[in-house]
Amino acid sequence: MKSIDAYDLKGRVAKYDKEMDIMHPNRPKMVNIGLEFLPFNQDQQIKVLDLGVGTGFFTQKLLQKFTNAQVVALDGAQLMIDLAKARLEDFEKSIKYVVGDFRDIDNTFDNKKEIFDVVISSFAFHHLSFEEKKQTFKKVHDLLKNGGWMINADCIVDKNPLIEQRFQEKRVEGIVVRAKGQRPFDSSDSTRKYLDRLEAEEKDNPLTIEQELQAFEFGGFKNISILWKEYREAVCCGQK
Ligand SMILES: C[S@@+](CC[C@H](N)C(=O)[O-])C[C@H]1O[C@@H](n2cnc3c(N)ncnc32)[C@H](O)[C@@H]1O
Repeated sequence: MKSIDAYDLKGRVAKYDKEMDIMHPNRPKMVNIGLEFLPFNQDQQIKVLDLGVGTGFFTQKLLQKFTNAQVVALDGAQLMIDLAKARLEDFEKSIKYVVGDFRDIDNTFDNKKEIFDVVISSFAFHHLSFEEKKQTFKKVHDLLKNGGWMINADCIVDKNPLIEQRFQEKRVEGIVVRAKGQRPFDSSDSTRKYLDRLEAEEKDNPLTIEQELQAFEFGGFKNISILWKEYREAVCCGQK
């Protein structure tokens, strides 16, 4: 039975990736830019925390590059952790899984500080309010060793409504082209409705790039920068 379950989980990971490729085709590029930027040797024994690991995409790419890294993979949903375990079974010895809310990350490691060389996150922080994001970044800063880096790859929103409107039109156009007639992305209308419903259900709250940088500043980070930005997505970094 275990192998059937495992197969089913891997099938779900593949389905999730297929949908992400349609909705967020820049995800591999964003993750690669974050990893390329990290100034560590590939064989260094770095300690990494992945916040909102989901199905484990970022962690997988990280462990393929930094082969001696140890990762704590945290997510609020046990189901997502199960999917991550299915994707990352070859890296079992390098990963510790934690089910928890990253807003409470200060209570997750028995109030220990300065544990990690790197904190990574992709497409997870846009569920938080600005205030929650600022407070969480502060807690992340506490968990980093001096000189450690936080890399956040996520959706953003433009502060100018006209620009945001145009970005949204381009977003829907792109999804329809990439989906090649696959439902629910077979027309602009159905795609828009699907996105609106999904974002309401998931309580999405993307912030502006300015707010993203302010959250890093509030957290106490230095060397804050935008490593990459295109339309509604960005990769930002900050150092402790
Ligand atoms: C859209 S998925 C992205 C997953 C993965 N990082 C990726 O790039 O594919 C967002 C993940 O963040 C998790 N998440 C959202 N808010 C969270 C929170 N406050 N604490 C822990 N996990 C959270 C969700 O459960 C979900 O698995």
